[in-house]
Amino acid sequence: MNPLELIENAKKVKENAYQPYSGYSVGASLLTKTGKVYNGVNIENITLDMCSHAERTAIKSAITDGEIEFECMAISTEAQDGAPPCLTCRQYLAEFCSDEFVIYSDNGDDGCKKYTLGEIAPHAFRPEHVKNESNSNF
Ligand code: THU
Ligand code: ZN
Repeated sequence: MNPLELIENAKKVKENAYQPYSGYSVGASLLTKTGKVYNGVNIENITLDMCSHAERTAIKSAITDGEIEFECMAISTEAQDGAPPCLTCRQYLAEFCSDEFVIYSDNGDDGCKKYTLGEIAPHAFRPEHVKNESNSNF
């Protein structure tokens, strides 16, 4: 699936967002290195502090299905000029994705914005920081 198709996919999936409290819908479509697409939406909760972000919903769905290598992600939001993932989602992505991982953010009729994870999450904390010879967990 090419980036434009991935954005179209995210736009469509956004319609399923469960957002009764913020009124703000987000759809995310994640392309794996094996060519599969996993979708996610934001899912809010009346507790207000327990909200699943679309990007993380998509990653969790892919991991659940045994996919762990990701190519890129498209995000569609209600923001006029597109919106990048929040800082927590950036860290969540950094667990699985390299600095080269590309994020496309739907920009209404004007197409999309394109970011790399390295650009929007520079110096991210990654598993390799914890891996060392004296740590037997790795
Ligand atoms: N939201 C996401 O789904 N992803 C982000 O990274 C930014 C915020 C959702 C959470 C909440 O349901 C709504 O957008 C407003 O913050
Ligand atoms: Zn987020």
